Amino acid sequence: MVQVLLVLILWNTFKNNAEKVRVLDNLSNGFIKNLEPFKSNPAFEFIEGDITNLQTCMDACQNIHYVLHQAALGSVPRSIAFPLHTHAANATGFLNMMVAARDAGVQRFVYASSSSVYGDQPDSPKVESRIGKALSPYAVSKYTNELYAGVFALNYGMKVIGLRYFNVFGPRQDPNGPYAAAIPLFMDALLNNKTAFINGNGEQTRDFTFVQNAVQANIRACFTDHPESFNKVYNVALGDSISVKNLFAMLAKIAGKEAQPSFREERPGDVKNSLADISLARTFLGYEPQVKLNEGLEITFNWFKSTFSK
Ligand SMILES: NC(=O)c1ccc[n+]([C@@H]2O[C@H](COP(=O)([O-])OP(=O)(O)OC[C@H]3O[C@@H](n4cnc5c(N)ncnc54)[C@H](O)[C@@H]3O)[C@@H](O)[C@H]2O)c1
Repeated sequence: MVQVLLVLILWNTFKNNAEKVRVLDNLSNGFIKNLEPFKSNPAFEFIEGDITNLQTCMDACQNIHYVLHQAALGSVPRSIAFPLHTHAANATGFLNMMVAARDAGVQRFVYASSSSVYGDQPDSPKVESRIGKALSPYAVSKYTNELYAGVFALNYGMKVIGLRYFNVFGPRQDPNGPYAAAIPLFMDALLNNKTAFINGNGEQTRDFTFVQNAVQANIRACFTDHPESFNKVYNVALGDSISVKNLFAMLAKIAGKEAQPSFREERPGDVKNSLADISLARTFLGYEPQVKLNEGLEITFNWFKSTFSK
């Protein structure tokens, strides 16, 4: 996860006086350039390696107290096209990391789950205890993580916390490639006068979460000592949703453009509406999102403007 979450997690872990921060990533989807600011820090170590290799995970967990497991192949459409790739990285890789963390005796294992686990659950807002039928191999892989986390906590006494992220966005998110997310694609389209495509009629809603809020949840999950906070999965979101159509309009306003999106076919596996109830994370982790949608979009837009504008 070398682009979106990792850089901010790194700043925060160093701010919390971490003696050593070791990053494991195979760079299949992340960029080494995002780690440049940390290279000269003697407490920083990077292993280029794959979590599908157990020994690599074991090497990465040696003498580590906290694991923040983010590595995965994201994207619902990618998982529908290549379910074996998704399973290898997201399910087998996850299990390797759990085994390695167990054997290294780590104190805390925090991992990224996903709102995709809610599948066809119709309730709004989504509450952690009520999930539906998975709609994609990606969702299955993330639910598998939650099941493994539960049995590792039960059988090995590990302190495990899962974070169900809802549409995280922010600077450094890659707008390129077939599996790019909506916000970086919209940014790219608005800045470079390209057509922005919306899948379906744009009425589908999402709880877009600025990356700094997701980072806060990770740090809080590491340091909580609330006895009932462990072995749970928490929604990590803003707790407010917007339709994709309105999101595009909001972004166009920030960009100062009159642009209209182009609508195309709905994507299979996508959930219709997604809004999180974040009260569990508030209660047990003390999580409180600090950055609202408009503010996060402005920060992200300014980053894209300075980086990608032609
Ligand atoms: N961004 C979101 O909206 C969102 C929503 C829900 C859940 N998540 C989850 O959050 C986590 C981080 O997501 P992100 O958006 O930062 O994605 P990202 O693609 O930016 O980061 C994933 C990282 O994992 C690395 N990786 C992939 N397979 C690997 C492997 N086999 N071995 C080692 N490294 C590997 C990639 O190189 C990449 O740097 C993922 O687990 C993702 O499933 C993200």
